[in-house]
Amino acid sequence: MARMSIQALRDSVERIYTLPVLPGILKKLLGLVENPRVSLNEISDFVSSDPSLASRVLRMVNSPVYGFPGRISSVNQGVILLGLNVVKGLLLGVTVFDLMQRSMVGLWEHSVGCAVVARIIAKRMGFKEPEEISVGGLLHDLGKVILILQFPKEYGRAMGLAEVGGRTIGEAERDCFPANHASAGAWVAKKWSFPRNLTDMIEYHHKPHLARVASYQTAVVHLSDVLIRGRGYGFAGDEGVPPVNPATWERFRFTKEDVKKILAEAEDALEMTKGLVL
Ligand SMILES: [Fe+2]
Ligand SMILES: [Fe+2]
Repeated sequence: MARMSIQALRDSVERIYTLPVLPGILKKLLGLVENPRVSLNEISDFVSSDPSLASRVLRMVNSPVYGFPGRISSVNQGVILLGLNVVKGLLLGVTVFDLMQRSMVGLWEHSVGCAVVARIIAKRMGFKEPEEISVGGLLHDLGKVILILQFPKEYGRAMGLAEVGGRTIGEAERDCFPANHASAGAWVAKKWSFPRNLTDMIEYHHKPHLARVASYQTAVVHLSDVLIRGRGYGFAGDEGVPPVNPATWERFRFTKEDVKKILAEAEDALEMTKGLVL
């Protein structure tokens, strides 16, 4: 394939709607979520009207990815408790579950693992909305899913390059695409009118020092991504563990003991999410 322009790549990524793999209900859902003026009631009604979607949402809300395992029994209650922005992210997480499973073995586990660790760190640091950061952890590698779905051959080449060359998947993507998964994910997040904090977490999770509006949340997601890779949970496209951004280390100043404690706390939740099939 001739090297595509960044605009051509962006156009294809934003046309994710047209993918034949997306079932009708999810297309409708994405259309709903894209509307910046959508209300909590509309979302709740839509989710409740589809039993399979409703049960997936409930399974997700009650999983250790969020902070309320086993405590939410209705879609309405979940939506109200979590708030619009978190629910939008959660719905997208539910939506991309199939796609993640299909696109890269282990990426779902990597994403859930990152979400779990991110919530633990956010709570530990006294952050008021740890769920928001959970969603960032869950969706940070969304761009990989989209690139794989739209360009399976090229992405396969990138994964091959990462495997034999011992490089990160992000570096290998650069050889095959004019932009990496972080940019691709951010384009979709913007197209779907995601909250700016979430878009920031997706766009800058490998360069948290560049985050614009959610520098703290982005740093948490970045650190969680590295920690969950180090823990060897799931698969994100390469076997390496990238270094933690120096500014992020400086910000949290975790000792080895702190990191051990965070990962120990994550173990139970990871065990519980192992069977999390939506
Ligand atoms: Fe990433
Ligand atoms: Fe990742």
